[in-house]
Amino acid sequence: MDAAAEILAPVEDARRRLGEERSEAEGRASVGALTRADVDAFKVRWLGQKQGAVTALLARIREVPRDEKARYGEAVNALKREAEAAVERLAGRATAAEREARERALAVDVTLPPRLAPVGRLHPLTVVRRKVEDAFRTLGYEVADGPEIETDWHNFGALNFPPDHPARDEFDTFFVKDGGAGRDRLLLRTHTSPVQIRTMLSRKPPIRIIIPGRVYRNDAIDPRHSPVFHQVEGLTVGEGITFADLKGTLAAVFRQLFSEAAKIRFGPTFFPFVEPGVDVAVSCVFCGQKGCRVCSGSGWIEIMGAGMVHPKVLENGGIDPGRYSGFAFGGGIDRIAMLVYGIPDLRLLFENDVRFLDRTW
Ligand code: PHE
Repeated sequence: MDAAAEILAPVEDARRRLGEERSEAEGRASVGALTRADVDAFKVRWLGQKQGAVTALLARIREVPRDEKARYGEAVNALKREAEAAVERLAGRATAAEREARERALAVDVTLPPRLAPVGRLHPLTVVRRKVEDAFRTLGYEVADGPEIETDWHNFGALNFPPDHPARDEFDTFFVKDGGAGRDRLLLRTHTSPVQIRTMLSRKPPIRIIIPGRVYRNDAIDPRHSPVFHQVEGLTVGEGITFADLKGTLAAVFRQLFSEAAKIRFGPTFFPFVEPGVDVAVSCVFCGQKGCRVCSGSGWIEIMGAGMVHPKVLENGGIDPGRYSGFAFGGGIDRIAMLVYGIPDLRLLFENDVRFLDRTW
């Protein structure tokens, strides 16, 4: 190595180190890991007034022989310009990387699952009512409707309630204040049976209807009672309708509603508007009739009342009992819902607590 090359060697060395450091810093910049503090440190290391490598090289010019000073000085100045350019470039990249990081922190992550707005769902009573309606529709029934404020005649008289029947007791229902007297006296219907009368009066047999709806009784609220609840009633009138049709119809519906294995049992009972009248029980679908809490160990769940329409009721509906016969049935929608979903307390159906309503029915 000649003398001139030897004098320039430290500058060449520094230049190589500068190149290495710069590409290392650029590598970090390309993954967003270069900070402005890194660039400041780089600048101090190369151009700092006290310890900067370039400054140190410049200071050494005093030791360089006079006729080499120009070349040496030029080489160090070139290095200095290179270091300055590197600082400027790296500062730009660090600033960009920091801005990008800041923006990324603020940005919406479109890959996150969305927060869904709360969506309402059907009330369990609506679900059960629709299931009952669907089951009867498959048998050719129509859904009928009637007023919740009824006359005494439609709710009681036409349905063959004797004047002294306990269900007519003032305390069994709610009467409308100043709602008239006698057979026109207005009250809140205690069952959906008055719609039987209204339907018979408004059309000719054959009649096949079910009547879901809200009914009222003067009961105090407890886990099994409510002054407002829901029933579904049914009425079939035609020529040659028999008790066997009643049983077959209800059996078919219970199989749809509960299970293919559901059986029904009739027990004698009294309702003034049917003769004979029966209590209808369905085999317990919860224990397969082994006996459980739901069926109180009996294997059967009483679920509705039914019977052959009383001839007097047909007459009150304007239908000739000599020619036509029919059957009727009725039960509580709330009770079916409680059974099907294992709802322990009737009040849950009416309190509108979303923790209850938000379940999947
Ligand atoms: N209406 C009766 C009740 O409310 C139920 C019923 C309807 C019974 C039709 C027989 C026939 O309890």
